Amino acid sequence: MAVDILIGLQWGDEGKGKIVDVLAPTYDIVARFQGGPNAGHTLEFEGTKHVLHQIPSGIFHSHIQNIIGNGVVLDPIVFKTEMQKLTDRGVDAAQNLFISKKASLILPSHKVLDKVSEEALGSGKIGSTLKGIGPTYQDKIGRVGLRVGDILSDDFQECYDKLVSRHRKMVEFYGKQLELGEQEQLFFDAVDYLRTLKLVDSEYMINEAIQNGKRVLAEGAQGSLLDVDFGTYPFVTSSTTLVAGACTGLGVAPKHIGEVYGIFKAYCTRVGSGPFPTELLDEVGESIRQAGREFGSTTGRPRRCGWLDLPSLKYSIMLNGVTQLNMMKADVLTEFDTINICTHYRLPSGELTDKVPHSLEAENLEPVYTELPGWKIDLNKIESIDELPETFTNYLAFIEEHLRVPITIVSVGPDRKSTLKRDALSIS
Ligand code: GDP
Ligand code: IMO
Ligand code: MG
Repeated sequence: MAVDILIGLQWGDEGKGKIVDVLAPTYDIVARFQGGPNAGHTLEFEGTKHVLHQIPSGIFHSHIQNIIGNGVVLDPIVFKTEMQKLTDRGVDAAQNLFISKKASLILPSHKVLDKVSEEALGSGKIGSTLKGIGPTYQDKIGRVGLRVGDILSDDFQECYDKLVSRHRKMVEFYGKQLELGEQEQLFFDAVDYLRTLKLVDSEYMINEAIQNGKRVLAEGAQGSLLDVDFGTYPFVTSSTTLVAGACTGLGVAPKHIGEVYGIFKAYCTRVGSGPFPTELLDEVGESIRQAGREFGSTTGRPRRCGWLDLPSLKYSIMLNGVTQLNMMKADVLTEFDTINICTHYRLPSGELTDKVPHSLEAENLEPVYTELPGWKIDLNKIESIDELPETFTNYLAFIEEHLRVPITIVSVGPDRKSTLKRDALSIS
């Protein structure tokens, strides 16, 4: 069987966790392939809300094997807390969780490096989640990092000390002292816990599963516009958030890729710094933030809000080869009489384009909007696709016409059940 991949098409927080959980029953394996505790994936069902950071969103289905792949950067301390929360809620996550021995380890000193490097950037800071993501991927690419498999070696403590002494010098370069306090003890306790779990060569596990006809769903983190190559660099994360990242982050060959689910909100949000062409700095943006409860699942920071941006969605669809679109959170726009969609950008020359230019800074482009009528009906109350108001189905058709990819899932609320599956409108 093929590996299906689900990825965010915007700046993260599109609702990936919810849809992975919805799709999970038809899969045998759910695997995370990049990112780490910078992610916050929210799942809601049976009146409870769960936020997962490093554990795949298939974990609530007992028949599913969940894999943390080699492309992930894993913080053992955050991980242990996450596992404890699941245990407290009666989920025996250790049973169906497998961790790649090749996943990178986030050390407490990586988090300090993240902080001092952000501070040094001053007003140019990336707005990182301060989870140590950038420094850990730097060590990985610099070929000095530690991996999960290393915790099984007798000389792990020595390797740890060597890397931390390197980090100490780097922190001093920023004019600060490395003080880890209780974090080191927490780290080694968490590493002891990690040793008791299923540490595997997940590339074999996944490829054998594919050969045996099992269904695999790869769960992306962050979003395409935060991709280290194609995102709004340097205001991006440090991994390949695109479909290509699933190949390197799991050890899956491109020929095994099947469906690519591209998830987007009916509007845009972004946390952290960086360009955002359709950002609304007025009361409209504030209403979206309040109605959509747009506050970070990982850091609690308010998310910046703006209208839907079709040129950037087209770009993400192209980069990922999206085969099905999933639209999230349309219910949030209920109160608006009219809804704007950006179809093009106007360049300083006056020329219109639907391509994403090298610089997305406000002085280099102006979004051009089409105004559509709002639906003014609480979509969250709708239980079947046939009940959707015509204003809303016209809105879907407008987007499909522009993007040329069918919208097969429409999410109208945070709960697992608030999910409408649909046959796409015919795209003429
Ligand atoms: P992820 O990082 O892509 O998994 O997304 P997050 O969990 O960070 O953010 C999505 C937020 O929107 C969460 O609070 C979800 O519970 C919520 N959510 C998901 N889908 C919908 C939806 O269709 N409508 C509403 N109102 N909320 C949703
Ligand atoms: P999920 O998986 C939204 C953003 C940060 C910052 C930039 C770099 O929940 O969609 P990093 O800590 O990765 O070095 O931060 O990326 N960012 C996210 N924004 N959702 C996420 O994950 C994010 N992960 C990182 O806010 O702007
Ligand atoms: Mg999130």
